[in-house]
Amino acid sequence: MAALTDRHGRSFPYLRLSLLEACNFRCSYCLPDGYHAAAGTPRWLGREEIARLLRGFAAVGLRKLRLTGGEPSLRTDLAEIIADAVATPGIQTVAMTSNGILLRRRFAQWRAAGLSALNVSLDSLDDARFHAITGRDRGAEVRAGIELALASDLPTLKLNAVLLRGLNDDELPAWLDYLRTRNLTVRFIELMQTGDNRDYFRRHHVRAEALEQSLQGQGWQLLPRAATAGPAREYAHPGFRGRIGIIAPYSRDFCAGCNRLRVTAHGDLRLCLFGDFGIPLRPLLQSDASLDELTATLHAQLGLKQAGHGLHEGRTGLTRHLASIGG
Ligand code: GTP
Ligand code: 5AD
Ligand code: SF4
Repeated sequence: MAALTDRHGRSFPYLRLSLLEACNFRCSYCLPDGYHAAAGTPRWLGREEIARLLRGFAAVGLRKLRLTGGEPSLRTDLAEIIADAVATPGIQTVAMTSNGILLRRRFAQWRAAGLSALNVSLDSLDDARFHAITGRDRGAEVRAGIELALASDLPTLKLNAVLLRGLNDDELPAWLDYLRTRNLTVRFIELMQTGDNRDYFRRHHVRAEALEQSLQGQGWQLLPRAATAGPAREYAHPGFRGRIGIIAPYSRDFCAGCNRLRVTAHGDLRLCLFGDFGIPLRPLLQSDASLDELTATLHAQLGLKQAGHGLHEGRTGLTRHLASIGG
């Protein structure tokens, strides 16, 4: 069957699947009070439903899957889900984004199941700041997990630091030190406004522009972007083993390179991180007989994908926080 494309000339080899909305961190920009399930919340998609979903997406061009949450490692069937995804014909890369708290304990299991790319949130290299931002005094533990992954044969390891005015926007020297010898990419992400963080956003949003200019001034060079790459502009420097990425959703051309779709933990297709509606796919995941209807639905819905998000106008769509859709 033909691969998914939209009316803006983009194709979609990349799916971000949220495995659950719950999280054990309390990041100040995301879930400052932790996760509390609303009464009557249905259960998350199960392993069988996920396997069907992936077969359907793979039939219309899925090549790279990223598992997200909430915190995906809170799923007890995570290793099985990774293995099922790896075994799906067509899927070439199974990636995951995690807060890293279970990395030390579970990394070997994830890797054995076939995980080939991992993004770990690390908003500060300083323990006290890490605690203040995430609500958990576990910075040293997360960094130890990162060292374990670095010492392994994992093909791709990236770190995420959300840039926060007054909280961590002065740490470039510490990061440069960290990157001199480590073979990973750290991405600085501009804070995005969501339905729940409007005041916080006003206080702490800072553009990545100055940081990017400072990197360019210090000899960092922009790398070419692959078709299944995420939204980061990546830089390298001959004096450093590590690379630096900039994720700047408020820059004008950000959405032109969009190559991804999202499915929530309840099986709703979201055409954009900040979309205004979800399309329930769960009814089409109950038996193999619905797979053709699933792929036809995906093709039809892609016609509704907008050219870009409404963040510039302060529109955040359905997204109250990124834990609800996996970023
Ligand atoms: P890879 O490049 O595949 O490693 O993925 P990624 O950088 O997209 O993954 P990750 O889950 O680590 O997300 C990093 C940041 O990018 C998070 O803050 C995401 O919310 C943000 N992000 C990812 N995709 C999009 C997108 O389509 N739109 C916007 N606005 N932000 C995105
Ligand atoms: N803006 C930017 N990044 C965010 N993340 C969570 N909420 C936001 C936000 N409002 C990041 C997390 C994690 C990734 C999936 O998204 O820190 O690294
Ligand atoms: Fe949890 Fe990620 Fe949200 Fe932090 S950003 S509270 S780690 S889902």
